[in-house]
Amino acid sequence: MSHHTFELPDLTASSPLTTFEFSPAAKDEAAARLAAEPDAIFQMLMQDQESESALLAARRITHAFLAGVGGSAAAADGLAEDAAADTIAAYVGAVRGELAAATSSLIQLEPDLREAVLRQRAPVGLVSGCWLDTLSQPASQPSVIVNHLFQHHVALKGEGNPQRSLHHLRRRALEGAGVYLPEISAEDFMRKAQARPLTAIHASFYVALSRQPFSFLPEVAGVHYAFHTLGVDDLLAGAQPLLPEPMLRESLAEFLDLTRRSGHGPAERKRLHAAIRLVLGLEREHVAMLAELACWRGGLSLDARVAEIIAQHAPFAGRMHRDVRVAGRPLTETFTDPGFDVAAFIQDFRKSGHLKPLRTGGCRFLNAIKFGGPMFAIFDEREAAILKAWVAGVQRGNLPEVAIPVNRVGDARAARWRAAITQSEPDDVIFAELPLIDDRELLYRLVNIENFPNTRALARKRAIEGFADGEILFTHGAAGQYTDASYFDYSPEALRARVAHIYWDKLVNTYQPLKEIPDREQVILGQRKMALGNLIEAAWSHRIGNIGRFDRPSDGLMFAIYADEMGRGDVQKNHIKLIHQVMSSLSVHLPHVRDAAFREQELLPDSSYPFPVHQMCMALFPDSFYSEILGYNLAIEMNGLGFVRMHEMERLRAHGFDISYEEVHLSIDNVSTGHSKQSVDVIISYLDSVERNHGSAVVQDEWRRIWRGYAAFAYFIEHQLISILPTEDTSASESMGFEDAELMI
Ligand SMILES: [Fe+2]
Ligand SMILES: [Fe+2]
Repeated sequence: MSHHTFELPDLTASSPLTTFEFSPAAKDEAAARLAAEPDAIFQMLMQDQESESALLAARRITHAFLAGVGGSAAAADGLAEDAAADTIAAYVGAVRGELAAATSSLIQLEPDLREAVLRQRAPVGLVSGCWLDTLSQPASQPSVIVNHLFQHHVALKGEGNPQRSLHHLRRRALEGAGVYLPEISAEDFMRKAQARPLTAIHASFYVALSRQPFSFLPEVAGVHYAFHTLGVDDLLAGAQPLLPEPMLRESLAEFLDLTRRSGHGPAERKRLHAAIRLVLGLEREHVAMLAELACWRGGLSLDARVAEIIAQHAPFAGRMHRDVRVAGRPLTETFTDPGFDVAAFIQDFRKSGHLKPLRTGGCRFLNAIKFGGPMFAIFDEREAAILKAWVAGVQRGNLPEVAIPVNRVGDARAARWRAAITQSEPDDVIFAELPLIDDRELLYRLVNIENFPNTRALARKRAIEGFADGEILFTHGAAGQYTDASYFDYSPEALRARVAHIYWDKLVNTYQPLKEIPDREQVILGQRKMALGNLIEAAWSHRIGNIGRFDRPSDGLMFAIYADEMGRGDVQKNHIKLIHQVMSSLSVHLPHVRDAAFREQELLPDSSYPFPVHQMCMALFPDSFYSEILGYNLAIEMNGLGFVRMHEMERLRAHGFDISYEEVHLSIDNVSTGHSKQSVDVIISYLDSVERNHGSAVVQDEWRRIWRGYAAFAYFIEHQLISILPTEDTSASESMGFEDAELMI
């Protein structure tokens, strides 16, 4: 057994990889994207989680935040290198007390100001927790701390019910307080939140951290503890924390404990401390900004509040104003003038005929915004009330001189962060084209994809090729031994009937106990042939349902399945832990699939690589291949059932090997309530929403993509069938995996 061999438990406290390899072209693209305004940077991060340039932008953002806070400050501020969890808790608790005092005065503000404060805070509160979204992944499982944090993650995700998730609880609290916002990934989210640049920058940091979470495990552990313990959003909403501090402290203590056994303890703890200090600083900064904002807004004159309304609506005023003049100039001209001076406009507007009292009551402007007027419904209730009060003041003639203060709340701080982001050049980023690589190197890079973004273009290509290969089974799939990927037009009934057919006719009724049990070496060989796919268990779905993508019922269902695969954070029930345990019972000792040494392992055959490679490739594009992943999910969950697994259990049991991996799948994947049933529900739920939003023509397009995903899985296990198909149909069959398909589970 070499020292590279991996043994349970997985005590990893930080990723062994420390560099990020990007394609050279990503450099300028990322720079261009980071040159945008903060709200546009946030929107870019939310919309694009797949391209190299967005990921490089994310790395540059995290560097800007993390680089400045480490170093020698640690000793000076009282957090000793070996500080225990209780010491850290006291340190964070003191800042919580300080912030609780500050927020308590904010929630006592008059409704208008309180609403402005909550609206301003919303982007940060609504992204919180995202740093755990993809921490659980083939590279990080079955790490003890990753699973501990995954328990918290499952709670924050409402156990897979989007409506119970922290994000939605926060959203409902906001709505209860009169703050209505579009979805967080929506194009106008930051505008509707009236986010100051500083708010957009803070929110961007947390989303950026969520893009390389395993590479920043110590930082994620620190951010997670500090952010939720401070609980600024709960303080503002008067809500109970979903993760009480003692729970958070437990995971902190566990992480500290792991660093003491890791061999890199001092460095890992330094990173943890730096992240905690960063969050304390950021939250102090943001709460201070909220107070400043309340103060600024509270001191606004009526003129200033009207100016704000006009500035917000002017860009949308449009052509209908071309006949409306103020101070002799058409409003279309005034509002589109790049040098538009709102103070001068208000000066003129005050004196214009639009505000003169009419003998019939009101004035031309107020009549215009009333029901029946040409500007009805342009302004909301709050805006209309301000405008009315202002007109009354103008008509009484008792308003002071027009003086419009510019809102610069938080801008000095924001400018410093922006400069740090612009100058951020992390020295762990390497620019290199992807060299020619074999499947062993490719799988290594896919598992460690945070560190090898320059492999993404190849991954996308391989995913698409795999889907295209599978389509041959649209015509020939009925003859499959374990699957039936032949194409059919979608209806919920047709899908349920197909699943029942596959389950009963292919997987269950064909079962007969094995007449002969192969010898010990043959059984071990069989397990070695299929182990690789199991070592990356659930990889296909590990990126589904992250920030901005947890609204559809299908997202929640997929997340719930993934959560089960990881034992919902209980390592004893984690399927990746189980397969390691089985390998150990077979005396098959391997490096971890994330380790460089795994590339040279000789126990699992080359022919078993294409299947996990293809699965990893599709998993990296949860937006591009959402539909395909849903179909693939159905195929792989059904594969946990029936005679294949029964036979494998008979073989393992006969030689006294561990059968827990087989056992758990026969039950958890079951077709009446388990993962197979849930996989059907996911597809039906998704296509139902497609139908209601886009109509039935689009349903059949999406369905074809879903079924391509199913067929792509079938293609890898129906070796016998593929081998007898006419050769012009099976150009890719030589690259296909398994000599003995029955062994592939
Ligand atoms: Fe599983
Ligand atoms: Fe499953």
